[in-house]
Amino acid sequence: MTRLLVRDLAQLATPAAGGVPRRGAELGAVEVLEDAYVLCAGDRIEAVGRMRDLAPLEGDVEELDARGLCAVPGLVDCHLHPAFGGDRVEEFSLRAAGAGYEELHAAGGGILSTVSATRALGADGLRARVERHAGWLLAHGTTTWEGKSGYGLDRETELASLRAVRDAGGSPTWLGAHSVPPEFDDADAYLDFALAEVLPEAARLADAADVFLERGAFDAVQARRYLEACRDAGLALRLHGDQFTEAGAIPLAVELGARSVDHLEATGDDGVRMLARSDVVGVLLPASALFLDRPMPPARALADAGAPLALATDFNPGSSFTTSLPLICSLACTQLHLSPEEALTAVTVNAAQVLGLAADRGRIAPGLRADLTLLDAPNWRYLAYQLAGDVVSVVVRGGSLVARR
Ligand code: NIG
Ligand code: FE
Repeated sequence: MTRLLVRDLAQLATPAAGGVPRRGAELGAVEVLEDAYVLCAGDRIEAVGRMRDLAPLEGDVEELDARGLCAVPGLVDCHLHPAFGGDRVEEFSLRAAGAGYEELHAAGGGILSTVSATRALGADGLRARVERHAGWLLAHGTTTWEGKSGYGLDRETELASLRAVRDAGGSPTWLGAHSVPPEFDDADAYLDFALAEVLPEAARLADAADVFLERGAFDAVQARRYLEACRDAGLALRLHGDQFTEAGAIPLAVELGARSVDHLEATGDDGVRMLARSDVVGVLLPASALFLDRPMPPARALADAGAPLALATDFNPGSSFTTSLPLICSLACTQLHLSPEEALTAVTVNAAQVLGLAADRGRIAPGLRADLTLLDAPNWRYLAYQLAGDVVSVVVRGGSLVARR
């Protein structure tokens, strides 16, 4: 079995052992070791410790000199839309000149313009785009990522999106209820089609299902119908909720035992309290709020009330064109008033929990998958401190060196 010794790390930072998902005081419980090593064996972490306690190793061991670098767990991006064609750079210019995101959507632009471009790509084109985006993610230190469909909205393109995500190493989520495509008169007619024609195969390819519960997209009754059918087909549940308006996403997520409810920019006090009493993870997407010049979600209130939180990029062409979790950690500290420790937990173990993977990754500890993101920094908090810089230096995934800058 191949062994890899990552040695002489300036610091190693990992969420401490604890319950999943982390919440309350545990959200900020991070252990830091100075002058540390990580020993990987095959795709697992074998041992972690201080250099001075490292016993001589028998047999063949490859060494990675990590002097001047800090290790954090391989980052986990639990909310992104990487399966799309074209771009929205024209729309970006229109928004810069004052056009509203929801207005553009209502006029048939926005998400639906990406739907046409995605359908036009074909399965091979889609596969190439998702692979390209996976490369961007890796360069930013992301070793585990989710990928939603939702820009096909026909049978062929939705299934091709899920296959492309799975084949590129992502965790596929069927966002079959993202928008109503132009060939249907209304949301219910579209859902009749999607649940009858797409769900049976989507349930074999995807791990989870997601819905955009929002004015102009799907309402709470339609979201319930979609999610219940997906749950009955064996999928875990996610919701895009409270992005622009509170339309019942949190009560529905709690009632159905969803893994997460994502966005929450419009969440009020009752929503904060309800989420804090549940095991549904609130996934905050500060880059999307920034990109659309919208209010930030009430992150501090959620954290203080004890809600479990994760952070993600929401990478997509329309509302968040970034693949950088280090940038998200920066925004978490400067805009959401979370601590660097809370941000780290939110992009590692709690994000892994949203993907059903917390038993396997999200911390640096023996037995877990050997995923490490090494920062070119004297202190691990540069992960958030360095604003949109090139802080990621080396990436180890499954015990192998997969990226180096
Ligand atoms: O999470 N809110 C809906 N879906 C995406 C944006 C999709 C788009 O604008 O293309 C989001 O922000
Ligand atoms: Fe999204």
